[in-house]
Amino acid sequence: MLLKININGKNAELETDPNEKLLVVLRRMGLFSAKQGCGEGKCGFCTVLLNEKPVPSCKIPVGILNENSKIVTLEYFQKTDDDYENIMNGFKKAGIKLCGFCNASKILSVHELLERNYRPTKNELEEFTENLSCTCTERNVFMNGIGYATAFKHDRIERK
Ligand code: FES
Repeated sequence: MLLKININGKNAELETDPNEKLLVVLRRMGLFSAKQGCGEGKCGFCTVLLNEKPVPSCKIPVGILNENSKIVTLEYFQKTDDDYENIMNGFKKAGIKLCGFCNASKILSVHELLERNYRPTKNELEEFTENLSCTCTERNVFMNGIGYATAFKHDRIERK
């Protein structure tokens, strides 16, 4: 099938099998920020934004996408979205050093959290981080990092 989608701000037409997973297509295009992990939608290592929502690209058959599907990978996000700086500053302040496998998952998921509620409560943070675990970052440290990221975002908004 001829797949028409928008990847990282550009329209693309790709000849592909409709059952092929988005993760495979992205990596074939040289976009390696989405990593192959569990392959079951659990670990989040393959996260991308699909129409501004974080999704596991290992579970998305490209046949369900169309020209209205806007895919953003971490490569593009980090160059184009102010939240990247807020998140990385927050993570740095909390002492977080991401291992390289969970970057897309943590950064893009935190971005979505900041977009909908940039001052989450402790309960919301606990719920949010439940399925975003990775051995590189303790959960409470991750929660601190999100807290700092929200503060950086809030500060940036107040300065505008
Ligand atoms: Fe684990 Fe996609 S590889 S959720």
